[in-house]
Amino acid sequence: MTDFGAELFDRVAADYDRSVPFFATFGHRLVEWVGPARGARVLDLGAGRGAVTAALVRAGCSVVAGDVSTAMLDALREAVPEVPARLLDAQDLDLPDASFDVVLSGFLVHVLPDADAAFAEVARVLKPGGVFAFSVPGPSADAGWWAAYGRIVDEFARRVRDSTPYEPVTWESRADRAGLHHVSRTTTEVSLPIDGPEAHWAWLMSHGNRWLYDALDPADRTDFRSRVLRGLREDHPAGGTRLIAGAEFHRIVKP
Ligand SMILES: C[S@@+](CC[C@H](N)C(=O)[O-])C[C@H]1O[C@@H](n2cnc3c(N)ncnc32)[C@H](O)[C@@H]1O
Repeated sequence: MTDFGAELFDRVAADYDRSVPFFATFGHRLVEWVGPARGARVLDLGAGRGAVTAALVRAGCSVVAGDVSTAMLDALREAVPEVPARLLDAQDLDLPDASFDVVLSGFLVHVLPDADAAFAEVARVLKPGGVFAFSVPGPSADAGWWAAYGRIVDEFARRVRDSTPYEPVTWESRADRAGLHHVSRTTTEVSLPIDGPEAHWAWLMSHGNRWLYDALDPADRTDFRSRVLRGLREDHPAGGTRLIAGAEFHRIVKP
């Protein structure tokens, strides 16, 4: 499987969520949707630069932020200095049993090599009755742009890795396997202004999407970039001048 772990996020940390408040917007909405009580003890898993953490602080929660990337944690410490930021692997949490009321995770679980291990760890560190909520990419009114981008990614990805067999596992079944109960989901989307196709491309390369560009050889990188830029100019509903994307939020409880 492609590695979306520490090395990739160490490389993108300096640019992550700086040009457009994309992750910050979804982080705020995730916290609003969950509505944790003031004073709740909350773990932000895969905290990144603190999109979810910052919203939790504003909601009056007591937060621990965990991530595998030291560069992302440094950026988080700069952005939200009042929160303890810890080097933590979501799949093997160095945290005591039943120590959190809520675990939140923004755009992490879909990139983990072993999401089942992470769900089991979340189940262990949550108190009974605790809530686990997370975001993953979701649908948006993008006129097929993300699907077209995905086809370009698939085409170039075949140059650097064998195709990974698709494992049809739902978030509900993962929750069941960890002894948790999936209670609800919702979708939400953003359309944020961005300074045209070049800026849009730079944004695409400022987070997890960068893995493929880095893995390609120089000629393929140039080709990949041109194909994406052409798509942004010709197929994107706003000609690449808006960042249109969606997320799915899931809420799970520990019985
Ligand atoms: C797409 S970013 C999301 C960051 C943040 N939650 C947000 O919404 O902006 C994914 C984050 O998960 C972190 N990550 C990747 N694998 C991880 C793991 N096994 N355990 C903890 N964090 C991990 C990355 O370093 C990165 O900061």
